Amino acid sequence: MKTLKIALDGPSGSGKSTVAKILSAKLDILYLDTGAMYRATALKALNLGVDTFDEKGVSEFINNLDLEIKYINGKQLTYLDGENVSDRIREPQISMAASNVSSLKCVRIKMVEMQRKIAETTSCVLDGRDIGSFVLPNADYKFFITAKVEVRAKRRFDELTAKGFKVDFNVLKKEIEERDYNDSHREFSPLVKASDAIEIDTSDMTVDQVVSTIMTHIKAY
Ligand code: DC
Repeated sequence: MKTLKIALDGPSGSGKSTVAKILSAKLDILYLDTGAMYRATALKALNLGVDTFDEKGVSEFINNLDLEIKYINGKQLTYLDGENVSDRIREPQISMAASNVSSLKCVRIKMVEMQRKIAETTSCVLDGRDIGSFVLPNADYKFFITAKVEVRAKRRFDELTAKGFKVDFNVLKKEIEERDYNDSHREFSPLVKASDAIEIDTSDMTVDQVVSTIMTHIKAY
């Protein structure tokens, strides 16, 4: 059976996940937030006291990582060692740790293998950094979602503040810049716009405008 695969890549805070959730509901296809998997891996390293840049330390647990992605009422839940860590992995200190572990080759090999398996037989939208360039190079549609760093930091600030976290805008902005640098300069499958991806700068767009721009491309297919 023909499936529909959509790759949505871009830097932190570009709005990918908000858009991907709406798209998956509109098109009635599965949504996989691949960042959650790197975040769970980072949490595992932190739980074990393993440095998030320590390739040897991480390689000792990665192949036996008990990480499960479940869908309850259409919502993605992330389970680590049998525990629902969906909220835990959104805590601000996990973001940088996730960026760190995501630079390790052993982690990327494992995550990409899991992601391809989940996406194999089903229509889906995956959001991440390397979906169009590496995970699903034959995706039917590839979008690269960007926004100015100030806008992305403001979105993340609002999101975390609404959840009750006390965060400093300038610290957050600096962290986003650092993550951008880390994510796009790592050796193995960095954050990159696939040559055939459509770039959308969402700095001055509402979520609805981004979704309808994407839907226009999909309808025109
Ligand atoms: O999208 P996010 O902020 O939840 O992702 C957390 C980190 O995981 C991000 O800094 C980079 C990494 N990541 C990645 O390297 N590849 C992906 N496909 C998704 C996320």
